[in-house]
Amino acid sequence: MTSTATTQPLRVAVLVGSNREGRFAPVVTRWLTGHLAQRDDLTADVVDLAETPLPTVFPAFGQPPAPGTEEMLALVSPRLAAADAFIFITPEYNHSFPASLKNAVDWHNEQWHAKPIGFVSYGGLSGGLRAVEQLRVVMAELNATTIRNTVSFHNAWGQFGEDGTVEDPQVDTAAKALLDQLTWWAHALRDAKSIRPYAA
Ligand SMILES: Cc1cc2nc3c(=O)[nH]c(=O)nc-3n(C[C@H](O)[C@H](O)[C@H](O)COP(=O)(O)O)c2cc1C
Repeated sequence: MTSTATTQPLRVAVLVGSNREGRFAPVVTRWLTGHLAQRDDLTADVVDLAETPLPTVFPAFGQPPAPGTEEMLALVSPRLAAADAFIFITPEYNHSFPASLKNAVDWHNEQWHAKPIGFVSYGGLSGGLRAVEQLRVVMAELNATTIRNTVSFHNAWGQFGEDGTVEDPQVDTAAKALLDQLTWWAHALRDAKSIRPYAA
């Protein structure tokens, strides 16, 4: 390790994208946080957009937001700012990702800069992969680095046992690969920013 490398555990914000009533998202989230809990090098903060909703009306440029907006943002924005890396948990809605997730993305900007994002997706036959590919385009605009490896649950509702575990062992192998790759990028980018501020 070089003398410039930072050694604190990485802070990973897990952004739960669906806020639908009766959603499947908590099953996937519990599975992922189980994996994160096994890692000494990562600390997880689950930012659930159903628990901390954000307004959907943006203020006019240069104008203050509507009453209540800052209070709602205060429950989300500092946690995104504090994160070294993100994992987005996204379902697929009409070959894309949910409006609730786009809304959370759009309320923020520098919170995403020069940070890696991994994706865990779920849906029908496509396993949410079309949502992920669209998110890659969006997050590039926000100076984030989306990592290659993903975990995708195809026909997700049939993949989990009653206890929340996944029967296919390849899925847990894929989760480890995703977390390893996210960790590498998060260290690389955090170390780089400790030497030189990111130039957006
Ligand atoms: C509005 C809507 C659109 C959907 N479109 C797709 C789709 O294009 N492809 C797909 O595989 N599944 C689609 N689905 C199925 C969802 O991926 C699936 O119901 C998933 O559980 C939704 O996540 P949630 O339950 O956490 O909200 C759609 C579901 C909804 C509610």
